[in-house]
Amino acid sequence: MRVLFVCLGNICRSPTAEVVFRQKIADRGLLTEVEIDSAGTGGWHAGNAPDRRAIVEAEQRGLSMTGRARQVTASDLRDFDLVIAMDESNRRDLLALATDDEIRERVQLLRDWDPEAAGHDRGVPDPYYGGAREFAEMFDIVDRACERLADDVATRLSP
Ligand code: 4NP
Repeated sequence: MRVLFVCLGNICRSPTAEVVFRQKIADRGLLTEVEIDSAGTGGWHAGNAPDRRAIVEAEQRGLSMTGRARQVTASDLRDFDLVIAMDESNRRDLLALATDDEIRERVQLLRDWDPEAAGHDRGVPDPYYGGAREFAEMFDIVDRACERLADDVATRLSP
C-alpha cells in the first residue's frame, strides 16, 4: 500500500505527517508493506529541506526529518492508494488534478482520522507564519490523526 501526504509547501505539515506516520507503521511492524511519501501542491520550496522549526520539534519527539520538498503531480494520484491532504485547500487542488472518480476517491483529509477534529474545520492549521507553539500544536494534531490512520491501514492490510 502506498500513502502520500500533501500540504502546500511540503516543508511543514506533510513532511511532519510523513515522519510521524512512518514511525507508527514501524511500531506495527508494517514498514515493508507500506510506502510513505509527501509532496506539496505548490512548487516554491521544491528541493528544500523541511522547515527548521519542524525539524526541531521532531527532534524533541525523537523523530528525524530528512527528505526534500517536491511538488505533487497527476501521476502521484495514480501511483498512491491514499493521497491525504492537510486541509480543504490542498484537497481542492488535488481534486483538480484527478482524472476520474476512482482517483478522486483516493483523496482524503488527514483530520477525518482525528477523533478531536471540530465539525466545521477539518484542516491541519498551517504553522508557517506561527512559532514554536504552533508547530507543537500541529505535531499534536498530526500525531492523533496518524495513530488512527495507522490502525486503519493495518486493518486494510490484514482485515
Ligand atoms: P506547509 O507550510 O504547507 O505545511 O509546508 C507552508 C510552507 C510554505 C508556505 C506556506 C505554507 N509558503 O507560503 O511559502
